[in-house]
Parts: sequence; structure tokens; C-alpha cells
Amino acid sequence: MLESSLKAQIFMDHTEMFSLAGKVAAVVGGGGVLAGEMAMGLAGAGADVAILDFNPAGAEARAEAVRALGRRAIGIPATRRRSRTWKPRWPGFWPSSDASTS
Ligand SMILES: NC(=O)c1ccc[n+]([C@@H]2O[C@H](COP(=O)([O-])OP(=O)(O)OC[C@H]3O[C@@H](n4cnc5c(N)ncnc54)[C@H](O)[C@@H]3O)[C@@H](O)[C@H]2O)c1
Repeated sequence: MLESSLKAQIFMDHTEMFSLAGKVAAVVGGGGVLAGEMAMGLAGAGADVAILDFNPAGAEARAEAVRALGRRAIGIPATRRRSRTWKPRWPGFWPSSDASTS
């Protein structure tokens, strides 16, 4: 049986190994159930999260839930016409040119 301090060390290494701190994830459909939970998981791993959804209220509600975890989050109303131009509309949110997308 592992000592509790060793367990804590293993857990810390595990979370650091998979840390998304400093990253921004874009979650399409995050105003819904499944992608919304994925957004929470990504935030739990340290990512800031942009939530795109056809349902603006759902996106913003999930963004608020992510912010309650202490991460930055924005809800982005998704439209087909703006699918190529949404990212520049929130300058300063993205740490670099990359973003993870689910
Ligand atoms: N919830 C479950 O337990 C479950 C189980 C098995 C399968 N599924 C399937 O998984 C999928 C998602 O399920 P859910 O429960 O999260 O659905 P949901 O309706 O709660 O969420 C889907 C969200 O995606 C958004 N959306 C759809 N297309 C989009 C697009 N192109 N751009 C931006 N936003 C978009 C919708 O507005 C909606 O808010 C569905 O196909 C569902 O049938 C769900």
C-alpha cells in the first residue's frame, strides 16, 4: 500500500503531465450537454475555454460555469457565415496562434 505522501506525489505528477495551463481550448457545441462537460474537463485540466454554440445563451451559461472554476472563458455565438472569422473578434483571449478544438 502506497504512503499517502507518495500518492500525492504521483497525483501531482499526473496532473502536471496533462496540464493544459496556458492553453486555450475552443469547444464547438459546448452549450450542450456532452461538449459542455468536455469544456469543464478541459478547464479542470487548466485550459481557458472558448465555447462556440448556435445557442448563445447556452454558450454563455457554460462559459460562466467555466469561469466559476477559475479559468477564463467566453461564450461565442456560432453562425455558419462567421465560421472563418470568429477568432479575431476576441483579440487577447488566445495565447498564441493555436487552439485545441473538439
Ligand atoms: N447526451 C447524451 O447522453 C448522449 C448520448 C449518446 C449520444 N448523444 C449524441 O451526442 C450528440 C450531442 O449530444 P448532447 O446531449 O450534448 O446534445 P445537446 O443538444 O445538448 O448539445 C449539442 C449542442 O451543439 C450545438 N451545435 C450543434 N451543431 C453546432 C455547430 N455546427 N456549431 C456550433 N454549435 C453547434 C447545439 O446548439 C447544442 O447546443 C448528439 O448527436 C446526441 O444525439 C448524446
